[in-house]
Amino acid sequence: MSSQYDSFANTYGRAVALDVRRYVDYFSLTRALGDVGDKAVLDVGCGTGVITRILKQRGARRGVGLDLSEGMLDAARGEEVRSPLGVEYVRRDIADAGALGPFDLVTACYVLPHASSPDQLAAMCRGIHEALAPGGRFVAIHPNDAFAVNDPAFYSAYGLRASVDGRLDDAAPMKVTVTTVDAELTISTHYWTRSGYEAALRRAGFREIRWRSPEVAPEGIEALGEAFWSNYLARPYAMLFECTKEPAQR
Ligand SMILES: C[S@@+](CC[C@H](N)C(=O)[O-])C[C@H]1O[C@@H](n2cnc3c(N)ncnc32)[C@H](O)[C@@H]1O
Repeated sequence: MSSQYDSFANTYGRAVALDVRRYVDYFSLTRALGDVGDKAVLDVGCGTGVITRILKQRGARRGVGLDLSEGMLDAARGEEVRSPLGVEYVRRDIADAGALGPFDLVTACYVLPHASSPDQLAAMCRGIHEALAPGGRFVAIHPNDAFAVNDPAFYSAYGLRASVDGRLDDAAPMKVTVTTVDAELTISTHYWTRSGYEAALRRAGFREIRWRSPEVAPEGIEALGEAFWSNYLARPYAMLFECTKEPAQR
């Protein structure tokens, strides 16, 4: 099956270097994850492997990146050949992630909103739940349901432009345009509310869901100034949640 990502894997490689990704997304995600030392980690929808590699560099014992797009996986594997870290890449649907486990941690960075229906979102969450060891954690980052949706230019300073087609309902078609210094790519995805995510996570077996606002890395403030980020933090484009699989019964 081909994917929209097959055609722009190379351009995507430049988008992952945007300041907002480095200083907000990766920083917030790694803060939420805490110490990954010696943990087995699965990064679902790994794309070009940027998060998978960060986790391995931070000391993960096993780092596996899973994605459906051959183009994205080729780019990820190419980086692994150029600069080996021991990351494994697997072509598979998130809904079928269970067989790869057990993992101590699962991450999903801008992946879950690709689900186009509540059933598909629940199937993804179920695959993640099955891939986790008892007591394992799942941390995800994705667009905030309260992002500045009526003001598409709001995030232009950060290289992002997002719009939702129609009402702000779960699974509404959404377009995200990412602009780098020399390229632009538009991703078709879907809008999801907090309650839409929570319903899918509960259907998959997760109980307690904790929401976290994104933060800016101190290096990002130093590099670009507090004023640059204050606009973003007033209405963050990103939002995170974390949840834990129930520990095994004694
Ligand atoms: C926006 S990209 C994010 C890539 C990476 N996580 C990052 O933050 O740079 C979304 C990725 O999710 C993958 N994806 C979407 N639905 C998937 C599914 N059901 N199973 C596996 N991968 C999926 C796409 O192929 C794409 O590489």
